[in-house]
Amino acid sequence: MQEIFEQLDFVENPMYESIINDLMEQQYSIVEGFFSEEEVLALRDSLLDKFEEDAFKKAAIGNRVNEIIEKSIRGDFILWLNENEANFAEKAFFNRINDMVSYLNKTCFMGILFKEFHYALYPKGTFYKRHLDTFQNDDRRKLSMVCYLNDEDWQPEYGGELVLYLNINGKEIPKTIYPLPGRMVIFESQILEHEVKPVEQKRMSITGWLKTR
Ligand code: OGA
Ligand code: MN
Repeated sequence: MQEIFEQLDFVENPMYESIINDLMEQQYSIVEGFFSEEEVLALRDSLLDKFEEDAFKKAAIGNRVNEIIEKSIRGDFILWLNENEANFAEKAFFNRINDMVSYLNKTCFMGILFKEFHYALYPKGTFYKRHLDTFQNDDRRKLSMVCYLNDEDWQPEYGGELVLYLNINGKEIPKTIYPLPGRMVIFESQILEHEVKPVEQKRMSITGWLKTR
């Protein structure tokens, strides 16, 4: 009986459905306006407040067990978000993410059990060389998500493009994506190599991973 009620409860969400279709067809999805302008603004303010408080640290390569700071590979500064201590903007962020995760688990049996997100700030001149988001001692990352928090007037000449290296019929095809505010990019962590091109202007985002097991 319970199951029948759950099915009646289910309302198809067109945004999530198009993310699922994109992921199945091309291993990535670009969503415009995943967060509203107000939500982006609040998250950007929150990021900048915390950056000014000096809460960010230089990002390391590998995971927390394996922290080697390597400026020649990545130059961004990060701060991990803690859902239990989330401020107003971050609570709204996690509400949206949690809603999407439960939809994915319900409709595609993705088995996402954990998530981790950090703010990232790339100062002028920094980049993140081509890499894969999975590490030797952590293969649980299933989906990578990046939400851009840049100003409304972000210009192509500011750089900082995300380049996904797609493999189409055995041929490598680079896909360039500009870090426009409110845009979210989701891709398969274990499959798609990618990089962040050098930035000419401070570049802001929240990046995270949906994880299995
Ligand atoms: C990362 C990453 C991409 C981006 O943090 O692992 O690849 O566009 N970020 O910021
Ligand atoms: Mn990455």
